[in-house]
Amino acid sequence: MNRFTALIYDRFLMGASQQAGLAERRREALASARGEVLEIGAGTGLNLAVYPRDGITRLVCTEPNQAMSRQLDARSFEAPVAVEVVAASAEQLPFEDASFDCVAGTLVLCEASSPPAALAEIARVLRPGGHYLFLEHVRSVDHDHAKMQDRWAPVWRRMSGGCNCNRDTLATINASPLTIESAEIGRFPKAPKIVKPLLIGSAVLPLT
Ligand SMILES: C[S@@+](CC[C@H](N)C(=O)[O-])C[C@H]1O[C@@H](n2cnc3c(N)ncnc32)[C@H](O)[C@@H]1O
Repeated sequence: MNRFTALIYDRFLMGASQQAGLAERRREALASARGEVLEIGAGTGLNLAVYPRDGITRLVCTEPNQAMSRQLDARSFEAPVAVEVVAASAEQLPFEDASFDCVAGTLVLCEASSPPAALAEIARVLRPGGHYLFLEHVRSVDHDHAKMQDRWAPVWRRMSGGCNCNRDTLATINASPLTIESAEIGRFPKAPKIVKPLLIGSAVLPLT
């Protein structure tokens, strides 16, 4: 994500999708967030307004990009509790082992430099029985669609400032220490075909 993309993110990149249903999908994805919550790659803070109003006791948002986190800071009043903003990438989380009840991530693993390393970190900072809530755009299961995503991925990455449109994120979560509890493939409203579809679900860190 470069500085220009960060500046146009809310209004021009996300605005139409948010209004056409993405904000509601975010609300569904985060509905079970409870206790001490960490959000990775929180961007401009589009999730803050849709977190449940009750049950969250602490909210830490990490964001490596300064231009995004400035907007996140400005929006922190929308959150149900005070927001702690931390500059960090998901592959190197500056938190103790087992320090959160819930980790949330939306539209982040497409940009992470190593999704497996990010998921290992998510598992490390979660308490046993804690949940990872995700909403990610992923590689299509349709062969021709996925082929188109593969062909245009390098161009899209450059145009978008680092987004990978063809990642099989469900398989990556499956291969992590987390156990998937729910996963649903759905619509990404008013998004370009190259970043469809949307994966929404949750995974748990097993108790032992
Ligand atoms: C498409 S934006 C999504 C922002 C926000 N999560 C949302 O749902 O609107 C991707 C975000 O991931 C952040 N990001 C990029 N690489 C990252 C990494 N390695 N670890 C954590 N966040 C990263 C970017 O700075 C950007 O804010």
